[in-house]
Amino acid sequence: MYKYHNLNPISQVGLDEFTKDYAPVSTPETADAILVRSAAMHEMEFAPDLKAIARAGAGVNNIPLEKCAEQGIVVFNTPGANANGVKELVIAGMLLASRDIIGGINWVEENEEDGNIAKDAEKAKKAFAGQELEGKKLGVIGLGAIGVLVANAATHLGMDVYGYDPYVSVDSAWRLSRSIHHTTNVDEIYENCDYITVHVPALDSTKGMIGKDALGLMKEGVIVLNFARDVLVDSEAMVDALVAGKVKHYVTDFPTPEIAGVKGAIVIPHLGASTEESEDNCAKMAVKEVMDYLENGNIKHS
Ligand code: MLT
Repeated sequence: MYKYHNLNPISQVGLDEFTKDYAPVSTPETADAILVRSAAMHEMEFAPDLKAIARAGAGVNNIPLEKCAEQGIVVFNTPGANANGVKELVIAGMLLASRDIIGGINWVEENEEDGNIAKDAEKAKKAFAGQELEGKKLGVIGLGAIGVLVANAATHLGMDVYGYDPYVSVDSAWRLSRSIHHTTNVDEIYENCDYITVHVPALDSTKGMIGKDALGLMKEGVIVLNFARDVLVDSEAMVDALVAGKVKHYVTDFPTPEIAGVKGAIVIPHLGASTEESEDNCAKMAVKEVMDYLENGNIKHS
């Protein structure tokens, strides 16, 4: 009988995939595998019997990879399993930054008691006018599972899409719409795009990539979106760019205290993958990987 510990509850739909050879344990000490969503595991001590950690999500920055490697613990993630959920929120983020939906809703809530919202709607229409996505240039930095979906969806909205990724996989290249301009020069995206969205992992080489230099190259009034990892954007430089009006909106899926409340910032509490479908897909993939490893020694994404 294999034992698993569900550290930071992943979807029950995924757990239901475990066969009768698996049993849950309430503490990690006796587990063969730990399942985790985004709880930070850096301070945890791992028992000698622990063989695998499966992260129901793409990023593994909540897991101490070096410690796992030293102790021979295999770490799995679920790339692509929540990509559609994130893609949909990125598109929503572009719309929130383009149309003052939040301002309009707040206006209705603030004024509904006066009973004049229908009569005053003409004024609101002017106050909350926005811009359309069609015809605007979108730069997608990182063409992995999520970047490709965002790029393709944006073409269907009539956007002129530029994609940057020095390491496009064959799989991504096949899935990428042929109308997307692929560039190997990221400055081309910074200099020309009206909307810029980042979809790269947090690595030493990508941390702070959207900093003073990159922001300096961007167009006045650019809209920047970050649904990948907060550390990709230098918060101090972004606050300066928002205050100066260089960046019209920064839409981030990370509740970064320095950014929240700054004019033009649209801060979401990490909801990209928070859909029933994404959570189920990630959990199912994580469980499948754990079983394949414990039973067959396979280390691969299915
Ligand atoms: C991911 O890395 O895929 C997301 O952070 C998932 C999540 O929100 O748990």
